[in-house]
Amino acid sequence: MNDVALALPAGSVLLRRATIDDLPTIIDLLADDPISAARGDSADAGDREAYESAFAAIDSDPAQRLLVAVDAHGSDSTGVVVATMQLTVIPGLARRGSSRLQIEAVRVSSSQRNRGIGAAMMRWALADARAAGVPLVQLTSDAARVDAHRFYERLGFEASHVGFKYRVLSAEH
Ligand SMILES: CC(C)(COP(=O)(O)OP(=O)(O)OC[C@H]1O[C@@H](n2cnc3c(N)ncnc32)[C@H](O)[C@@H]1OP(=O)(O)O)[C@@H](O)C(=O)NCCC(=O)NCCS
Repeated sequence: MNDVALALPAGSVLLRRATIDDLPTIIDLLADDPISAARGDSADAGDREAYESAFAAIDSDPAQRLLVAVDAHGSDSTGVVVATMQLTVIPGLARRGSSRLQIEAVRVSSSQRNRGIGAAMMRWALADARAAGVPLVQLTSDAARVDAHRFYERLGFEASHVGFKYRVLSAEH
């Protein structure tokens, strides 16, 4: 995908595909959240290889887009990564052969929340799905994330399904 400028209520960010150089920042973003940190996204140096191999699997899969939003006005001249999300197109037979877009790992840096970055990324993902003829966009969110649920519902998502998880391996996974 081409880089895209997302307008915010004040300023803008650039949305682009993540590169391997972004990986440390993305790991920090995943850990920058108490619920995720408790699940094991702790930015531990020993986990680096696992993250690198996951990045390679995502990056080489044409159904996946791991994206970052960059604040061009950050201290670094190349911009500072302030948010991330992973988009996956899942083909399906249901709904007359409809594919669906799954949104995962949505994080905005804690210092950058409430600037409209998350809403701008979601609106772009919804418009991108519409343009690609993907009729359904779905995501799951930890039941404890009541603030995030308000965020998604304001964007038009409906809490219409109950998500189930089954831990096949130990709690660290
Ligand atoms: C949820 C999140 C992606 C929203 O991004 P954002 O750029 O802060 O969102 P916007 O500025 O567009 O919208 C603000 C709304 O986000 C939500 N929000 C703000 N801070 C939040 C936080 N720490 N945790 C969860 N949701 C939050 C609120 O609903 C807020 O609206 P409010 O005025 O009703 O309180 C971002 O806050 C975040 O990364 N939170 C922590 C991790 C998380 O919950 N991710 C979603 C996993 S499903």
